[in-house]
Amino acid sequence: MYGLINRAVKGLVTEQFGIEAWDRIRTRAGLEDEDFISMESYDDSVTYDLVAAATEELGLSADTILEAFGGYWVEYTAVEGYGALLDSAGSTLPEFLSNLDQMHARVKLAFPDLKPPRFRISESTEAGLTLHYFSHRPGLAALVTGLVKGLASRFGREVKVTPFRTGEGEEAHDAFKIIYVDIAGSEV
Ligand code: HEM
Repeated sequence: MYGLINRAVKGLVTEQFGIEAWDRIRTRAGLEDEDFISMESYDDSVTYDLVAAATEELGLSADTILEAFGGYWVEYTAVEGYGALLDSAGSTLPEFLSNLDQMHARVKLAFPDLKPPRFRISESTEAGLTLHYFSHRPGLAALVTGLVKGLASRFGREVKVTPFRTGEGEEAHDAFKIIYVDIAGSEV
């Protein structure tokens, strides 16, 4: 994945646990003391190794770290030069979620080797929607949970996110039932 992602992992760890924790995680992941270049593509194993090292150093589950990273990513991209891109992707949570593929298509203009996930919406109602996630990469469902919650708070919303596996009649994939808990009476 692009260095931008690994830089954000470093940002999250150093902000929440300090630079010493980052140094221990980086060392455990077998990385030299060098900064990631945002626009350079790194092997996915770099990111996976960082997450694995963080679980061991911090005593947290991979899902806890990935979910926290999802929330952090929404804030990080907003201040790292992608705020306008985020703004243009939608002015409500459901609109934004339905534009995720177009948003990554625009990201790909700047990051040509991008291998973005694909998303699809189903069952969109006043009470919530289901977000379907198709990825080349395994094990990142909790990242999407954090991303959705981060996006919700960007729009001043609160959501309940329930992941599940699905895929009858199509390729098996992770999906997320998203309920708008800030609308009175919408939670079932
Ligand atoms: C403007 C903001 C954003 C930028 C610049 C951005 C960019 C990226 C980049 C560089 C990657 C790594 C993929 C690669 O290097 O091949 C990535 C992956 C990913 N992005 Fe975004 N992204 C943004 C916003 C979002 C949002 C709001 C979501 C919400 C669902 C999202 C969902 C994901 C997921 C789940 C992945 C993991 C890769 C996978 O499943 O294969 N991104 N994005």
